Amino acid sequence: MNASMNNTSNRIKNVEASPITRLIPYEEEALKNGKTIYHLNIGQPDLKTPKEFFESVREFNKDILTYAHSRGRKELIEEIIKFYKKHFNIDYKYENIFITTGGSEAILFTLLSIFDEGDEVLVSEPYYANYNNFFDVLNIKVNAFTADPKTGFHLPAREEIISKITPKTKAIVLTNPGNPTGVVYREEEIRLIGEIAKEYGLYIISDEVYKVFSYGKNRAISFGEIEGIEENVILIESISKIYSACGARIGAVISKNENLMNEIYKLCQARLSVSTLDMVGAEGLYKKLSDDYFEKNRIEYEKRRDIVYDGISKIEGIEVTKPEGAFYVMVTLPMDNTEDFCIWLLTDFDLDGETIMLSPAEGFYTNKELGRNKIRISYCIEAEKLKKSIKILEAGLKEYLSKKKLTR
Ligand SMILES: Cc1ncc(COP(=O)(O)O)c(C=O)c1O
Repeated sequence: MNASMNNTSNRIKNVEASPITRLIPYEEEALKNGKTIYHLNIGQPDLKTPKEFFESVREFNKDILTYAHSRGRKELIEEIIKFYKKHFNIDYKYENIFITTGGSEAILFTLLSIFDEGDEVLVSEPYYANYNNFFDVLNIKVNAFTADPKTGFHLPAREEIISKITPKTKAIVLTNPGNPTGVVYREEEIRLIGEIAKEYGLYIISDEVYKVFSYGKNRAISFGEIEGIEENVILIESISKIYSACGARIGAVISKNENLMNEIYKLCQARLSVSTLDMVGAEGLYKKLSDDYFEKNRIEYEKRRDIVYDGISKIEGIEVTKPEGAFYVMVTLPMDNTEDFCIWLLTDFDLDGETIMLSPAEGFYTNKELGRNKIRISYCIEAEKLKKSIKILEAGLKEYLSKKKLTR
């Protein structure tokens, strides 16, 4: 190879391959060996994408598939405005919303518009692992305060949070409801972050892509509902999870901060347009689905949450806190290298020809050490498969631990 053609940016070299991707070769090997694998490692819901998405695409009757407006289609923005009014009683205007290619692009554009190299971001760890790819490529330094599993991953005390703020801290990024923790922040936590953001002049980048999935008595409150912090708050929105439409790649960045939105708009213009047909499909979802759509799915996920939580709680040696929202649960295992266990489950173990794929939790932490005895389980597959998966986890854990004991 020509040596100079290996000359990629230092920025991209900063980005580590995801720990999930590292397991793929082992998964492929297991599949080749004829094993059935239950995927508890990814947040790909198995619920059907509503037919309204496809109907709207079919009804689209134009001769040319043109670029859409860089802001996104007006019809879709108007539907999102109605959604926020109806579900959160927040008043957004057309200029507060840009449609993006998934929530992922909304996050990237927001970070690009806020951070210079060397600036610092405040996060509650564990957090969504893909943020790290964006933080690393943009040379954003991560200052994490740690959320304790014993509190259900709720926020630590104010002093602990502000001890991580420096003059270079520009924003706090939170996910509510949480991936990977399942935490749903209480109103006092949301208000506390609001106060801190005001006091220290920080943006709040609130990733609310799981907003309709909360179980029990606490609904997920949006940062957009809190008065007085409108200039600080940026919401990350997506149809991927709430409508089970991950492949549509439709999200949005939402903020009342006019100056910031003007900056983000430059990036929207540079990439010209989001997929027109996917926006048309998304309009169908927001417009045509009946009011009970979210409630039906919320009940289904709550059922799955209970199966997973109740099942795991009974396994000896495992610690787990009950998730309150989204569709993930963090689990502490009696070992110091869960990645090895996750690989072993694919390569060396099966229960009647079946095994499970899990996420080692290291990638969800800045302080990697804290994640090495944990895994994340995603419970967005159907109940029967979840029940089998828990049996596999229990049997696998027992065998793995006894093998380890023998080799010591
Ligand atoms: C917390 C969180 N934010 C953002 C995303 C990105 O979603 P998308 O780009 O599909 O909208 C995900 C996907 O899993 C997520 O879990």
